[in-house]
Amino acid sequence: MSRSVLSVNDLSRAEIGEVLDRALETKRRSDRRSSELAGKTALLIFQKPSLRTRVSFELAVTNLGGQALYLSPPEVGLGERESPEDVGGVAGRYCDLIICRTFDQSNLDRLAAASGVPVVNALSDWEHPCQALADVLTIREHGGTSGRTLTYVGDGNNVVRSLAIAAAGEGMHVRVASPSGYELDEASVAEAAERAAGSEGSVSLFSDPVEAVDGADVVYTDTWTSMGQEVEAKQRLEAFTGYQVDARLVAQASRGASVMHCLPAHRGEEITDEVLDGPQSVVLDQAENRLHAQQALLAWLFG
Ligand code: CP
Ligand code: NVA
Repeated sequence: MSRSVLSVNDLSRAEIGEVLDRALETKRRSDRRSSELAGKTALLIFQKPSLRTRVSFELAVTNLGGQALYLSPPEVGLGERESPEDVGGVAGRYCDLIICRTFDQSNLDRLAAASGVPVVNALSDWEHPCQALADVLTIREHGGTSGRTLTYVGDGNNVVRSLAIAAAGEGMHVRVASPSGYELDEASVAEAAERAAGSEGSVSLFSDPVEAVDGADVVYTDTWTSMGQEVEAKQRLEAFTGYQVDARLVAQASRGASVMHCLPAHRGEEITDEVLDGPQSVVLDQAENRLHAQQALLAWLFG
């Protein structure tokens, strides 16, 4: 039975802990290579652009002794040129693992059901679980997770959906501040709360970013206009007025709070240059940790 990671909820709290422990252990080694994917091929099917996710997954597969094949957005036409079932069925005959970035979460479910091999979500409109693993790893390295407060300011999107669940499971107090109409959905808040209940963490929604950031240990933001939402950009720019992570807002957080962003950033919109490039920013550690977290995840899936 192959094990897929389509959502952060496909991993239990304990499993996330195992993966992140492995990631930290491997990151500390001078030689990070191992052989869990020796003789195996991973197919990357990406329907949206990527820098971090593509490069870090290709490197992770190589470090684990496997081979990665990349199919770019115009090539496969997942759900357009061919159904997710047909793509999954065929890819599963050639490859041992599929890493997929797509729009609808249902494409991943359908691909995984038909492929018979593990499928990993490399971002969908609904979730970005591998980003959340790297983010929690980064928070562990910058002061720890349990009992600390993570405030996310901005759109209730794929990034915060996965992050809230993962961070609440690590015992963090997760606060999410969004304007009306762009809040994190109730079902995801409930899932995060369920994780938090087992870990003494918590999750709460705010409309006022200043109140949400007050005393926070980590301040996180992401773009107001995600890939695929470009036609809404103007309307979103207006809706998110007052939600920019700037020096004044970060000053409300605890002293030395970490500032996080999954990147790519729309500089001057959700975050200022001053903050993104400032001493509290850990965004490059986050980006680096994509590699370590995903390598550990793949090693764990095939180990
Ligand atoms: N954070 C992230 O997923 O970046 P890419 O879109 O460049 O992969
Ligand atoms: N929310 C963003 C994340 C990019 C890594 C998007 O989906 O475009």
